Amino acid sequence: PPPAGWAELESAVRGCTRCELHRGRTQTVFGVGNRQAQWLFIGEAPGAEEDKKGEPFVGRAGQLLNAMLFATGLKREEIYIANVLKCRPPNNRDPQGEEVNCCEPYLLRQIELIAPKIIVAMGRFAAHSLLKTETALSKLRGQRLSYHQTPLIVTYHPAYLLRNPIDKRRAWDDLRLARSVLATL
Ligand code: URA
Repeated sequence: PPPAGWAELESAVRGCTRCELHRGRTQTVFGVGNRQAQWLFIGEAPGAEEDKKGEPFVGRAGQLLNAMLFATGLKREEIYIANVLKCRPPNNRDPQGEEVNCCEPYLLRQIELIAPKIIVAMGRFAAHSLLKTETALSKLRGQRLSYHQTPLIVTYHPAYLLRNPIDKRRAWDDLRLARSVLATL
């Protein structure tokens, strides 16, 4: 099991060699934001920019995420952002099951420590790893689900929305749904 507090968890991630992805990384990408946040956003894995800077969602997908946050009336200081994988897969290929299994305990511990009121899973990898399902994203989004006892909303990944801007409206709807779920708690 991953170590207890933030400091131990951060240093365990920084030194992690549990899967082969550690060989290709510039650095790990732990997560960023308010550790007391009510909102937790979860993506897939660091890309090239994130690997360089050590922060999630600093590249093009991150700019779109900022727009999504703005549309939802959320400030960066109100949220925490993390990825399922803490290391960049080579050439941004899809995460492998083994990599998710190795890395997921870190995310699960982050979720316990933050104890968010709502989780937004962005894209198929985040949704499938948290929900332990293989149901299509299109079937998972748009409804209130839960991770343990915490409400969870699935939406499109910002990188997908860069390629399919037509679905932005639906993503905005998902975040509005998340906001209204939070308001009922
Ligand atoms: N895509 C992700 O899923 N996470 C990042 O941090 C950047 C791009």
